[in-house]
Amino acid sequence: RANVAVFISGTGSNMINLINQASNPSSHCTIRLVICNKPEAKGLERARERGIEAICIPHGDDRHVFENKIYQELIKRDIDFICLAGFMRILTGEFTQKWVNRIINIHPSLLPSFKGKDAVKLALEAGVKVTGCTAHFVSEEVDAGKIIAQEVVAVEDNDDEKTLHTKIQEKEHSMFPKVMEIVAKSIVFSI
Ligand code: GAR
Repeated sequence: RANVAVFISGTGSNMINLINQASNPSSHCTIRLVICNKPEAKGLERARERGIEAICIPHGDDRHVFENKIYQELIKRDIDFICLAGFMRILTGEFTQKWVNRIINIHPSLLPSFKGKDAVKLALEAGVKVTGCTAHFVSEEVDAGKIIAQEVVAVEDNDDEKTLHTKIQEKEHSMFPKVMEIVAKSIVFSI
């Protein structure tokens, strides 16, 4: 099995779905660690309730110090790859270069449209009739790495940010675990 670390910043609904996937006996993943940059995030407790080690590393104001602390924790646990599941910090090139094709992210839009932290709001403001979610590899340029999978969601006239984000997250919850599994499989069979 591949050793996986999940990075979160919030409620961790995607993280829970990754944990569920890894609990499947036929999975190629072991979720070894959850890292969260926010001490008050609900996801930390939710991971612990599921028996997963979850630690908080506050981001502070120095990105290199922050990433160095993360790196040490990953190395200690022999992590093979990282899933960003609602992790709202930008990783430096120095960090992403250490994990080429070994970091995947879930983003709530059809990339390359609506990059950044307000993807759902930007899609509504643009008046698009379809949006969705994207799973992609993480590279130095934000939300621009190679796309692995996408799912489409129709935007209804009465949607607001909350209703639209809920619909997008339903798609994320089914898509991201499948993508994690595909990446894990490719790592396990290439070792
Ligand atoms: C997810 O919808 C994810 O796509 C989004 O944050 C949410 C986290 O929800 N990520 C981004 O916007 C990244 N730019 P969760 O904590 O319940 O999984």
